[in-house]
Amino acid sequence: MYKNILRPLLFQMDAEKAHNLVFNMLPLANKLKLAGLLGGKYRNKKLERTLFGITFPNPVGLAAGFDKDARLYKELSDLGFGFIEIGTVTPRAQAGNEKPRLFRLKEDSALINRMGFNNEGVEAAVERLKANGRNGKRVIIGGNIGKNKATPNDKAVDDYVFCFDALYNYVDYFVVNVSSPNTPNLRELQEKEPLMALLNALQERNGKNSEEGKRKPILLKIAPDLSNDQLLDIIDIVSETKIDGVIATNTTISRDGLESANKNESGGLSGKPLCKRATEVIRFLAEKSNKSFPIIGVGGIHSAEDALEKLEAGASLIQLYTGFIYEGPGLIREINEKIAE
Ligand SMILES: Cc1cc2nc3c(=O)[nH]c(=O)nc-3n(C[C@H](O)[C@H](O)[C@H](O)COP(=O)(O)O)c2cc1C
Repeated sequence: MYKNILRPLLFQMDAEKAHNLVFNMLPLANKLKLAGLLGGKYRNKKLERTLFGITFPNPVGLAAGFDKDARLYKELSDLGFGFIEIGTVTPRAQAGNEKPRLFRLKEDSALINRMGFNNEGVEAAVERLKANGRNGKRVIIGGNIGKNKATPNDKAVDDYVFCFDALYNYVDYFVVNVSSPNTPNLRELQEKEPLMALLNALQERNGKNSEEGKRKPILLKIAPDLSNDQLLDIIDIVSETKIDGVIATNTTISRDGLESANKNESGGLSGKPLCKRATEVIRFLAEKSNKSFPIIGVGGIHSAEDALEKLEAGASLIQLYTGFIYEGPGLIREINEKIAE
């Protein structure tokens, strides 16, 4: 139904407008119990994975950026995802970059985005998470946190700690996003010194926010454009700061081998052209660290085979974004069936 009916209609529209339309339609589709028709759901006990103390019903998650403001995590979970990552959220609401800022590259099965962390601010997300809860369902939620554009890098720690504190009791794990290409200079925070300072500051707060003193897993999301030396630094940093894992990868600034008219738009490239490099990063991290921390693999997964490749390279869980736009919810089921098999 998605690929034959919905996608041709949505792909006629401007990419961001199509995204907003889907967002507005999904609650209604859910109320009418139409989510099942989209064919994403597949339950099988064999798919459960326990990682950093969390039991995921299946290893296929929705990557950050789709549900930035925690509006639809329950509906998206009903489509079949094993976990939903909300955000990136920043302390204060911000509009993001000027439109248009999201582009389809159909011939390349890709997207370029320069959204720029448009979000309503962390408090709005917290209010929604409080009000909507989880309906007693097992919806695993990750909180992806960032800094406001106006915050200089030497004050970035304050922004991350603010979001961490605010979200602490409402998400299951945290993701520190220092890898978006669309906030000026953000990626400089991936260098060893500022990154150590940031992660140590979060670890310092970890557990102090909860009445039971329970700490939450912290993962670091990295860019696919890091060099091998920088990746080796990341391995040291994970071990020294004792964070729980890495999400590899965010979008790329590379434009190799593209054919579509939109290929020269600035921003981060996602989808099929990213697949190989994201898998290389996962394999490098897994091999060089002797699998000493879990990796969530993301980048260009458009088929069950792509997902299996990421798992074989060393990922424990995977996430989708662009593949979900191109293939629809059926992709979640296809991957889960193949993994179970
Ligand atoms: C429109 C769009 C917005 C995104 N926003 C975020 C974000 O806010 N935070 C983040 O960590 N990643 C964000 N991402 C990156 C995705 O989470 C993912 O890492 C990347 O797109 C690679 O996966 P894919 O090839 O399956 O899309 C965004 C991606 C897209 C396409």
